[in-house]
Amino acid sequence: MSKLNILVVGGGGREHALVWKIAQSSLVSKIYCAPGNPGISKLAECVDISPSDLNGLLAFALSKTIDLTVVGPEIPLVAGITDLFEEQGLGIFGPSQGAAELEGSKVFAKYLLEKYDIPTAGYKVFESFDDACAHLKTIPFPTVIKADGLAAGKGALICKTEHEAITALEMIMIDRQFGDAGSRVVIEEFMQGEEASVIALTDGENLAYLPPSQDHKAIFDGDQGPNTGGMGAYAPAPVIDAAMMRRVHKEIMLPTVKAMALEDRPYRGVLYAGLMVTKDGPKVVEFNCRFGDPEAQVLLPLIKADLVDTLFRISRGKRIDSDLKQHSKWALCVVLASGGYPGSYENGKRVVGLDGYLGEETMIFHAGTDFDADGQVVTSGGRVLGVTATGEDFYSARKSAYSAVGKVAFDKAYYRKDIGEKAKKHLAKSFSN
Ligand code: AMP
Ligand code: GLY
Repeated sequence: MSKLNILVVGGGGREHALVWKIAQSSLVSKIYCAPGNPGISKLAECVDISPSDLNGLLAFALSKTIDLTVVGPEIPLVAGITDLFEEQGLGIFGPSQGAAELEGSKVFAKYLLEKYDIPTAGYKVFESFDDACAHLKTIPFPTVIKADGLAAGKGALICKTEHEAITALEMIMIDRQFGDAGSRVVIEEFMQGEEASVIALTDGENLAYLPPSQDHKAIFDGDQGPNTGGMGAYAPAPVIDAAMMRRVHKEIMLPTVKAMALEDRPYRGVLYAGLMVTKDGPKVVEFNCRFGDPEAQVLLPLIKADLVDTLFRISRGKRIDSDLKQHSKWALCVVLASGGYPGSYENGKRVVGLDGYLGEETMIFHAGTDFDADGQVVTSGGRVLGVTATGEDFYSARKSAYSAVGKVAFDKAYYRKDIGEKAKKHLAKSFSN
């Protein structure tokens, strides 16, 4: 096979981790990233095209004879970038628009789960505010209210009382805080348990799993405060042990891929299941049609196999080997965010310490960074950096990541101090057994 020209779409920590991994492949000739960021620019040529400018991306891919486009974020997938590229004969990794609806519409995801008897929270869908309010009289609390469409991870609200639920419905359905995403809502049962993510690559039939991981969505330690895009992650997450992983495969992932084929929406790409491990077993909280962020920042360093080979095969409709070779290590990522995030924050703070020695097996993935007029790296987003370390065990990965966090800085930087805390009780248990 001649070497490939690759375009990665996106410019966050996930895409930096993707470009970092792709750059290690022997199959690659040149990597472009649209729009990329200062960290990515060391490994790939960054081109100033927005991930939502599908026609701009298409014109670029045609002009550079791109062999494989790898899509990071959900917005272009849900908007149909895969269908557009494939119509032009371009190879692209990511589900079609019909398949990406698994993330793009919570109503579709719940419909599929219910129809194929895949475990999830009980739910009802509403298009009318009054009907949704009337339903609140008939259910126990807490309950969970979700906007149907994409809402950048902020469209699910846990409501402890009827009053909170009415406020949430007003915000979503009347004030349209998430735009058209709020024209329908899902009201679902609150599930008790521990959350974890299972992410696999699939050719539409076979699944190649990455290690299970755990995100930290809330802004403050102890999972307090509003949700963010994710403040840190680690893998493998011991809450999903080998026996639980077999259940997740048999009860959730495989039935979902089969269901999508039966629905005439064959699913090829990354299938990400956000799970609640309940006392009755694993249940689906949500699906995503892409790598998680920050989960990608811990998962990609754990893959030993040539990722490009698998992504290329999937993009060409070929079968993949379900045994994706991995390092038997742990990885942990701490996100450094701008003070004030997920509310308002200031950009343009100079980031220092990026070029110093950070430690063995430590990587800094850029998320919200940019160059200022002097060519210095400055902050340009809520989540600024993902400080990731790998190690022979959980504790060494955690220690290295937190030690590297202390070596980079910017004004008002904020990070959680408890990334990975939940792993400890599982590790203590498995040690004492
Ligand atoms: P989602 O946007 O569906 O991923 O929901 C965002 C977050 O809300 C999840 O990561 C969970 O922490 C929480 N959540 C969503 N649905 C439920 C549920 N049915 N029960 C408990 N927590 C939930
Ligand atoms: N970290 C959660 C997500 O990527 O959706």
